[in-house]
Amino acid sequence: MNPTGGLVSTKTDDERVSLVGAGPGDPELLTLRAVRLIRAADVVLYDRLVSAEILALAPPEAELIDVGKRPGGSHTQDVLNDLLVSLAGSGQRIVRLKGGDPFLFGRGAEEVQALARHGIRCTVVPGISSALAAPAAAGIPVTHRSVARAVTIVTGHEALSTQSVNWSAVAQLGGTVVLLMGIERRAEIVLRLVAAGLDPLTPVAVVMDATTPRQRVWCGDLAGLVDAEVDSPAVIVIGAVAAFASEAAQLVAAYPLPRHV
Ligand SMILES: C[S@@+](CC[C@H](N)C(=O)[O-])C[C@H]1O[C@@H](n2cnc3c(N)ncnc32)[C@H](O)[C@@H]1O
Repeated sequence: MNPTGGLVSTKTDDERVSLVGAGPGDPELLTLRAVRLIRAADVVLYDRLVSAEILALAPPEAELIDVGKRPGGSHTQDVLNDLLVSLAGSGQRIVRLKGGDPFLFGRGAEEVQALARHGIRCTVVPGISSALAAPAAAGIPVTHRSVARAVTIVTGHEALSTQSVNWSAVAQLGGTVVLLMGIERRAEIVLRLVAAGLDPLTPVAVVMDATTPRQRVWCGDLAGLVDAEVDSPAVIVIGAVAAFASEAAQLVAAYPLPRHV
């Protein structure tokens, strides 16, 4: 079943309410459509990882509302959905700006459905997800004909006890594993993957603050990830392709990139 079938408008429809992907951080990785909608917005509701440079594209008179969820923070998804619905009913041009792509671990579908329950259709603008942009910005190809023919994108956020992610299946699938929101629970995740048969010496790269001036990369292996000095936000790449990260320093231009006009 398509959970948002019929609820999302096409490009030719009214773009008054839009869920817009802000990409991984670098404003140059916004889509042209995202830029156009942000520039025309009356209200921008934005997530924690959306940069000041991107918000600066909004008109000076636009209202910017920080709805980023923080540990212990006040915005639950329900409060946010209600706010979005009430603003959408005001007739203003609303941009709900989300890090990366709105439909990858972004709870975008829940917001589309909340709007739909009030008869409001919205436009969804895809964004470049950190799941692919972070590895790429560190010179890591998530697939490679000789070493990785599949890529699995998985969240490390869910409590492992809930069994919501089948870590054994993830370990056994082969190819590359891209882990989002995995820093906090990395020790438990490593334990699960190794128990399911993944070699503790499997190469790992952690790309932090990808595509921003603060980007940094940790390179090592699965066993070393447990005590690695790494911080969020980060994308953890597990698999043979992660070994490209150390080589990439010589082969590709690394962030922060010089700005050419
Ligand atoms: C709630 S998820 C949202 C993902 C987003 N929808 C996307 O497509 O990138 C947030 C997680 O995305 C990853 N992330 C987002 N931006 C990042 C960045 N610039 N560098 C590294 N990781 C990032 C981190 O794993 C972070 O914990």
